[in-house]
Amino acid sequence: MNSAPPDSPPPAQSTLQQLEEGGALSQFASSIAHEVCNPLSQIVLATDLLAGPRPMTDDFRKKIITFLRQGAERIDKAMKSMLQTCAPIETSMVAADANALVEAALDSLTVDASVRVEKHFASNLSTILIDQKHMTEAMAGICANALDAMQPGGGTLTITTSAKVFTSSEREGWQRQSWFRAGDHAVVIEIADTGHGIHKSQMPLIFEAFYTTKTAGKGAGLGLTVAKKVVDLHHGRLEISNRPEGGVQAVLTLKSAAGPSNLDSQPLA
Ligand SMILES: Nc1ncnc2c1ncn2[C@@H]1O[C@H](COP(=O)(O)OP(=O)(O)O)[C@@H](O)[C@H]1O
Ligand SMILES: [Mg+2]
Repeated sequence: MNSAPPDSPPPAQSTLQQLEEGGALSQFASSIAHEVCNPLSQIVLATDLLAGPRPMTDDFRKKIITFLRQGAERIDKAMKSMLQTCAPIETSMVAADANALVEAALDSLTVDASVRVEKHFASNLSTILIDQKHMTEAMAGICANALDAMQPGGGTLTITTSAKVFTSSEREGWQRQSWFRAGDHAVVIEIADTGHGIHKSQMPLIFEAFYTTKTAGKGAGLGLTVAKKVVDLHHGRLEISNRPEGGVQAVLTLKSAAGPSNLDSQPLA
């Protein structure tokens, strides 16, 4: 039984360590190999063509060089993602405004003109205690998925913030990643899109490292893995579901910085 108080700072742990615990390390390694081997064969092929005896036009040569560059960029991207996954997530908590967090995440993204962004921000929110850099990245990853799912064609991204007071105790995850007790004050951020949604069979896989349904080079399959890890480190909750009217809804619940629970650090019974 884990007897650490719910509000004590969690130890820094990398996503890789988390994967190791979950027994998913071999899958991680094979995904990395796949991400590197495919573009590597592309590079070998292109180099052979360039070095070969066959005469070629300038145009063809340029095409091969572009092909080479694309392959190298894919490897570079895969390696950077891997480094990010292996790095321990060190948190530095500050009191922040949830509405400002959403704005910062949206500012870091390019929103296509075909997407309408609707913001329904509550004005009565208490502050949340977050690591600004990591939580902004997590939020941006969730919004980026919503934007991707609405292409081509566009749609509406609706972000709603609200205050919540828990009326009963709730906990989640075998390590009790999230703790909410009766009386806890929280902020809820809902990100809803009108995109293609998530197939029922894919739903259990979306938080897995390197799971992606996007074309090569478009998605590394780490956005939700890292977002979930960051939310867990905050003892928050991230729920993703299909909306009955179509599209996906992500609900992020984060404990308020000030509230009865922060004065009382007893673990859940
Ligand atoms: N809002 C969404 N709408 C539809 N599918 C989604 C949404 N969010 C996540 N997904 C699915 O979850 C997968 C994993 O997401 P993520 O970990 O961010 O990786 P990536 O975006 O690189 O594919 C996506 O490839 C997609 O299939
Ligand atoms: Mg993503």
